[in-house]
Amino acid sequence: MADEAKALAEQTGNLPAGIGGAGPRHVAIIMDGNGRWATMRGRPRLFGHHAGARRVREIVRACPDLGVGYLTIFAFSTENWKRTQLEVAGLMALFRSYIRKEARALRDHNVRVRFIGDRPGLDKKLQVQMDELEEMTAHCTGTNLTIALNYGGRDEVARATRRLAEDVAAGRLAPECVDEETLPKYLDTCVLPDPDLVIRTSGEARISNFLLWQSAYAEYEFIDTLWPDFTREVFAGVLENFGSRDRRFGGVKG
Ligand code: IPE
Ligand code: IPE
Ligand code: MG
Repeated sequence: MADEAKALAEQTGNLPAGIGGAGPRHVAIIMDGNGRWATMRGRPRLFGHHAGARRVREIVRACPDLGVGYLTIFAFSTENWKRTQLEVAGLMALFRSYIRKEARALRDHNVRVRFIGDRPGLDKKLQVQMDELEEMTAHCTGTNLTIALNYGGRDEVARATRRLAEDVAAGRLAPECVDEETLPKYLDTCVLPDPDLVIRTSGEARISNFLLWQSAYAEYEFIDTLWPDFTREVFAGVLENFGSRDRRFGGVKG
C-alpha cells in the first residue's frame, strides 16, 4: 500500500488487516484442492497444480499491500510421495520451472525466499535451484516467502532432535539447557516468527503435518475455496476475519 493510501486509511479508520498491527504478521497456507479443481473441469490433476502455481504468484505479490511480512506455503509434504509417479514427477517439474521462471521477478519484488523441509530427499538439480534462489534473494528486505517442500512437521522435529542430540553427545549442549527456547533453534524455521494465522483451502479441517511445533498458538481458518480459486480478494477477506479474533495465549482478557 502506498504511504498516501495508508495515511488515508488510518485517518478514516478503514485499516486493512495487517496494517497498523491488527493483522497477522506471519501467515501460513496449506494450499489444498488443486486436484479436485482440475477433476471438476475434466482435466488431469497436474492441470490444477499449474493453476495453483499461478495463484501463488498473485498471493505473494499481494502480501506487501496486505501487511503480511511472512508468508509460508505448503507445496509438497513428506507424505505426498505416496501419489502416482506421474503426479510426483509432474509436481517436481513444476517446482523446477516455477523457480526458473519466477526467480528474477521474486528478487525484483524484493521477496526473500527460503525453503524448509528435507532437502536431501529431493532431486539434486532441484536442490541446486533452491540454493541459488535463496542466495539470489538473500539481500531482499520485503516479503519473507518460505516454501515448504518435502516438508513434514514430524520429520522436521525428528531431524531437529537428531542434531540436538549430536550437540549433547559432543558436549556442546547441556541436557538441562534443552527447553522451549533451545529446541526451535534446531528447526528449519529457526529464523522465522511463529505463524499467527494458518489458512487451509479446500474444506478439509486438518493440518496434515504442517508446522506442528510452530502453530501451537496460531489461529486457524479452514475455507471451502479450492486453492486455484484463492484470489487476493479471498485472501484479504480471510485476513479481515483475523482482526476480530481474540488471542489469549492461555491468559485472560486484560
Ligand atoms: C494440494 O492439492 C497440492 C499438493 C498437495 C501438492 P491436492 O493435490 O492435494 O488437491 P486435492 O486435495 O487432491 O484436491
Ligand atoms: C497437504 O495436502 C499438503 C500440501 C498442501 C502440500 P494433502 O492433500 O497432501 O493432505 P491430505 O492428504 O488431505 O491430508
Ligand atoms: Mg489435497
